[in-house]
Amino acid sequence: MTARATAATAASGMARPQRLQAQGVHVAFGGIKALTGVDLTIQRGQVMGLIGPNGAGKTTLVNVLTGFQPPTQGRVLLQDRPLTGMKARDVARAGVARSFQAARLFRDMTVQENLIVAGLGAGLGRRAATERARDILDWIGCAPIAQTQCDGLSYGDERRISIARALAMGPSFALLDEPASGMNESECAALMQVISELPARFDCGVLLIEHNMTVIMGVCQRIHVLDGGRSLAEGTPDEVQADPAVRRAYLGEKAEKTALVI
Ligand SMILES: Nc1ncnc2c1ncn2[C@@H]1O[C@H](COP(=O)(O)OP(=O)(O)OP(=O)(O)O)[C@@H](O)[C@H]1O
Ligand SMILES: [Mg+2]
Repeated sequence: MTARATAATAASGMARPQRLQAQGVHVAFGGIKALTGVDLTIQRGQVMGLIGPNGAGKTTLVNVLTGFQPPTQGRVLLQDRPLTGMKARDVARAGVARSFQAARLFRDMTVQENLIVAGLGAGLGRRAATERARDILDWIGCAPIAQTQCDGLSYGDERRISIARALAMGPSFALLDEPASGMNESECAALMQVISELPARFDCGVLLIEHNMTVIMGVCQRIHVLDGGRSLAEGTPDEVQADPAVRRAYLGEKAEKTALVI
C-alpha cells in the first residue's frame, strides 16, 4: 500500500476487521432456494475463491454479504459486528466493497471521477478521494485513461476499472464477481497479478468469483464450492481439485475420476 493510501486508511481511525462471515445463510426467491445453510469465512490477507456451476448461488451470496439481498435466514458478521439487515450503502461504509458481474460504471463520468465518487461514498473528503483514485489508477496501470469517459472504455479496461472502483472505497474486504469474464489471455494474466497483490497492498481480504479456473487456481489460497445453493466443498486449490464431489458437480458422474480442468 502506498503512503498516501495508508494515510487515508489510518484517517478512518478504525482497526481493520480480520474476518467477514456468512453464517447459516438461506435465501429463497418464492419457491427457488438460491442458498441453503451456507457458512463462509473470508480472512483478511487472503484471496478466497468462490466457484460453482451457473445458478449455484455465488452472486446471491455476494449480494447477502454486501447488503443487496437480505437473507431469509442466517446472518453476516464483520468480525463481531452484525451486518445483517444493513443497507448496501452502510455495508460499503463499514468496509465491504464489491464489483458487479456487469460493470455498472457511471458511463457519463470519467474513469477518475468514478473512483472519486466511490471514495466520497465511503466517507473520504474530496481531496483524499482524489489522491486515492490517482494512486489506485497508477498502480493498476490505468493512469493513462484516468480522464477517459467510461462509455468509451474497452471491455478489459471496464473490468479493471470496476475493481479499481471497489478499491477506491478503501475496503477491508473486496468481493469481485467474475472480474475476468470476457477477458483475453493476456488481460487475464495481468488481472491475476493485480488480484494476487490486493491483500498485501490494500490490507484487505478478497472473495473472487470466477469461472476461469486458471485464474482461480493461480491466485486463491482457499476455494469454497457451491452447488445448487449448498456448500459442496472448501479447501486449498489442490484439495478442491482432488475432491470427487466437486468433479461430479462440474463434469458429471462419469468424469469423477478424471482431472478437473474446467
Ligand atoms: N432476484 C431473483 N429472483 C428470483 N430468482 C433469483 C434471483 N436472483 C437469483 N435467482 C435464482 O437464484 C439462483 C442462484 O442465482 P445466482 O445468480 O446467485 O447464481 P450464480 O452462481 O451467480 O450463477 P452465474 O454463474 O450464472 O452467475 C438461480 O436459480 C437464479 O435463477
Ligand atoms: Mg453470478
